[in-house]
Order: sequence, then structure tokens, then C-alpha cells
Amino acid sequence: MCGIVGYVGKREASPLLLDGLRRLEYRGYDSAGICTLGREGLSLRKCVGRVSALVDALRKKPVTGSLGISHTRWATHGLPSDANAHPHLDESGRLVIVHNGIIENYAELRRKLVERGHHFRSQTDTEVLAHLIGHHLDKLVPRGKRLAAELLTQAVHRATQEAEGTYAIAVLHADLPDQLIGARSGSPLVVGVGKGEQFLASDVSPIVNHTRKVIYLHDGDVVRLTRDRVELFARGKPIKRAVSTVHWSAEEAELGRFPHYMLKEIHEQPTRVADLLKLTLRPRDGTVEFVGRALKRKELAQIQRLVLVACGTSWHAALAGEYLIENLAGVPVEVECASEMRYRNRPLEPDTLVVAISQSGETADTLAAVRGARARHIRALAIVNVVGSTLARESDADIYMRAGPEIGVASTKAFEMQVLLLTMLGIALGRQRGTLSLAQGRRLVRELKTIPRKLQKILDGETHILRIAKKYYRCTDFLYMGRQFNFPIALEGALKLKELSYIHAEGYPSAEMKHGPIALITPEFPSVFVVPRDPMYDKNMSNIEEIKARKGPIIAVATAGDKEVARKADDVIYIPRTLDWLYPLLTVVPLQLLAYHIAVLRGCDVDKPRNLAKSVTVE
Ligand code: M6R
Repeated sequence: MCGIVGYVGKREASPLLLDGLRRLEYRGYDSAGICTLGREGLSLRKCVGRVSALVDALRKKPVTGSLGISHTRWATHGLPSDANAHPHLDESGRLVIVHNGIIENYAELRRKLVERGHHFRSQTDTEVLAHLIGHHLDKLVPRGKRLAAELLTQAVHRATQEAEGTYAIAVLHADLPDQLIGARSGSPLVVGVGKGEQFLASDVSPIVNHTRKVIYLHDGDVVRLTRDRVELFARGKPIKRAVSTVHWSAEEAELGRFPHYMLKEIHEQPTRVADLLKLTLRPRDGTVEFVGRALKRKELAQIQRLVLVACGTSWHAALAGEYLIENLAGVPVEVECASEMRYRNRPLEPDTLVVAISQSGETADTLAAVRGARARHIRALAIVNVVGSTLARESDADIYMRAGPEIGVASTKAFEMQVLLLTMLGIALGRQRGTLSLAQGRRLVRELKTIPRKLQKILDGETHILRIAKKYYRCTDFLYMGRQFNFPIALEGALKLKELSYIHAEGYPSAEMKHGPIALITPEFPSVFVVPRDPMYDKNMSNIEEIKARKGPIIAVATAGDKEVARKADDVIYIPRTLDWLYPLLTVVPLQLLAYHIAVLRGCDVDKPRNLAKSVTVE
């Protein structure tokens, strides 16, 4: 939801800013802009389109200076256009701002500013914020006096107090050639602490190439950066925040030998899973132990109910978690769509644990659901990928997915890690409560260790999946079906296909298909069945028969060696055998690959699907 990069130092800012924007482009990609401050004063360029369009514009008309801010946008207020692209200026034309978030009272603020004689050039809420800071600055700086950095910081503080909604901003002023100001509330902002240079960014990916030392800003923080100093303020008073070290390297966020991030991330799954297993499995006790700020054993023992809350793909992982945890541990689990939970006013008993699942840890709805629960004194555990994210910070405990940076807008490896962690939570709870015996626990742990190898085997069969993609990529509709643990996998398969290739796809519990969707079946309407050799197998096979009787083509994801399914389905993708509980870890991978290849064949932009943004930090 918009990416911000800011720089102050000795180097030329624009190459660093553009490189940073490319890394943040997954957050939004409808327009981009940059402003630097050099000897000739402010240089501002912005245009509708991708960062590459901005790069072209800069080739024709370069900008110079070693202080600068930049932005890649996902439109909220106002269409994608040159005028609405960031950066925006205040009334004086000397104060420049980029913004991520939504200023909810912008219409009211704008009206007041117009009454005071301000003129606006765009429809954005961001320009209103720029003018509001400028307005406070005018009040703070005595006529004829030089602008001091403290006053700009104060003006930012005052304006953000007046603004309602969410923001992460980077601000510079033409009269302060060595000062970069940042502020956040509800949208992420990270400071990169360098030697003789400092960075501001929406996440660490534009920073790690230059420094591993970062400060994650908290809501309400304002930061003032010069080449050699980082000064932080909360409620207008100086404060200190911990400097953290980022453990992943810049190469992890590079494409390497892959044509797309999504494909790279799908292929990373065996390694990521193996690494997490090494860290957590306790084979002797047939259980797992979470590292870090996870809940203590005693706290886990007190839980009587889990409420899993998430959005999108993470919500599908939660649905898989519901089946898994209830089966493994006998603990009642409910799943809530975060955007719904926040307005439900649902009763929550004190011994309930809310588990929020989010790759980014910044999804506005998931955050709001956790805040709502915690305001009612309910404990919250965050399962997140992005270290230092707001969700992790605002929860009572956290478990990191350790998926590494996920750049592709369509989530793949994060889903795998989410399902793995929820399986592990089920095992930990099950062993603790005795619903899983030591022998069962050991068997599960043994089988979990084989998952990376089995994932690799599925990836090795990619050419076969590409062949199937070639056969079906022109179809306009798909049904995805599965049952029990694999019903959420059907939902996820359908979501991957629609978000990447813009093909209409629906996920259903296999048996539910008879209650409506079967009316859609024609020889041109394929159904993808997730049908491993588990207790649901015979039921699924009957549903396949029902579709076949109506001449619908079937693509089956089935267990290796299953000849029966091959006789009924038009195409089969085999996955290795595993325990029933662990099939979701395997069955999702062919569906990720199928969606990927179909989208590539249709000429879609796999890593940046239309209208989407990686992290949805607005409601
Ligand atoms: O960062 P989060 O896991 O909270 O994001 C939730 C959804 O926005 C995300 O999973 C979205 O559905 C993806 N585009 C799915 O591929």
C-alpha cells in the first residue's frame, strides 16, 4: 500500500532512491515520484505508471542532491495520474512530502485550508497533509526568521496530531538542505542507521544493501535524520528506540536465476521448511517448541479456545489451521475474517487466545481485530513473517514464519510456513493435552522431517504442470474442490488463479458443489480436485464421477501411485504420500505452480497483478 524511501547522506540520492523504489514496488505500482534537494534547490519528478516510467523520465531530466524522498503509489484518494502521484508540495512550494496511509478527515481539513487561502493541485489526502504541515510551520516561524529544523519537526508533530487516520510520511524542506523528517501512525516506517548517511523506508528491503542496523518506528513517533544523527520524538519529547539488526541479506530479495519472484519463492519452500523444522522439532518428545517470544508452556495449557484471524491467503491458512488444531489437539478453534471480526463485537471468553496470522504484520484489518481483542483483555499471539512488524509488536507473543522476504504480491511461501506453524501449534497443544500420544507425536515429527524432500519432488515435476497449464490456460472459469484439511487448499488454489491470471475461479468443499456450482459444469469448465489418499478419498471420487457425468474436465492433485484417479481424471498431478494431517503442506504447491504457469501463458504480470498491493495497510 504505497512504498516510501528517503535518504540523507553524502552520496547522490536518486540512484539509491530508485533502487529502493524497485524493491518496494510490490506495495503499489500505479504511479511513482521523487524529489531531491541539491545546489539548484528542489527537483521534483513524478508520473503515472511503474517505477520504470519514472526512471525513463529521469533519464531525460535528471535530478541531483544528496537528500531526497521518493514514493511508489497504490491509489486510494484520486485516480492514478501525474497530478495525484507523490511527492506533494505545500502552499509555499518549499515543503515536500510522500505518504502511505489514509487521512480520514482530509475533506474537513482541506475545506479549512481553502478558507485560509490554500490552493490544491491534486485530489489526494496527502496534499492536504503537506499543506497542513506548511500551515503549522507558518505559525511557528517568525516572519523574516530562518527556518530551524526543530520547527519543522514541531510542525510535523502538530499536523499529525490534527490528522485522523493512518500515515507514514517522509518530509523535506527546501530551506533545510540536510534534514529528513519521518513520522508514522498505523503505517510502517523503518529508519536505516548508516555511517554518515541515514535511510527511511516502508520496510527494510531498500535499506539492507546499505546497512543492517534499523529502528522500527512506533505509532506516534517523529524522527529527524541528518547524515550523522538520528533523533526520535514521541508526543513531542525526545525518546530512544532500540536499534535492531536485520538478519537477511540483500541477495535474498534478488531474483537470482528465476524470471519472477513468485517462482523463486515457490522454489524456496523446501529450504524454508527444512530450516524452520531444524529449529523447532523435538523428536525425542514427539513435539515442537517455538523459539522467541512465543507463548510459554504454562500459558498454552490455560487456553480453552482459539480464534484465528487473518485476511486473504493468510485467512486460508487459518482455515487449514482450524481443521488441523481441532483434529490434533481437540481445542475448539474458530476462524474469523479480520475485516469482519472488527465489526462483529463477538463474545470472547478470558481463556481464549486470538491468533493473528499475517505475512506482512501490517494488514490494517488484522491489526484492528487484534487491537479490539486486546482492548477487551484477550491475549493475542501473532504469526508473522516481517520482523519488527506492528502486529508482532502489538501482540502478547509472536512466532516468526522465517519465510524470508516475500516480494511476489501473490503469497506462496508465507502460506506454506503459516500452515506449517499451525500444524506445529496443533502438535504442541495435542502433546501437551494428551490428545496425541508420544508415539503419535514422534510419528508426526518423523514425517514432518520428510516434507522438504517431498516438496522438492513436487517442484521437480514442474514441466508436467506446465503441460497441463498449456492445455487449460484459455479457459475462462475454474472450480477448485477439496475436503477436510484440503478444502482450504482448494480455496487457496482458486485465489492464486484469479489474482494472477484474472480467470474466474471458485473454491468449494467438494460435496457442496452439488448444492449449486454443479450448474456451471460444461466441457469447457475444468474442475481441479485436491484428492489425496486420505479418509475423504472415496467421497471425493464420487464427486469427481458427478462432474464427469456432466462432461466437465478434471485436473486431480492425487497421491503418487493412485491409478484409480488416473482412470477418472483428465489430468493428474501426483504428490508424494504423507500423513493425512500433512497433505496441505504438499497439495498447495502444484496449485501455486499451475496458477503461475497459466498466468505467464496469458501474458499477465505475475509479480504485480493488476489492482493489488502486497500489504493492505488501509481498511
Ligand atoms: O500480509 P498479510 O498476510 O496480512 O496479507 C493478507 C492478504 O492481503 C494477502 O494474503 C493477499 O490475499 C495476497 N494477495 C494473497 O496472495
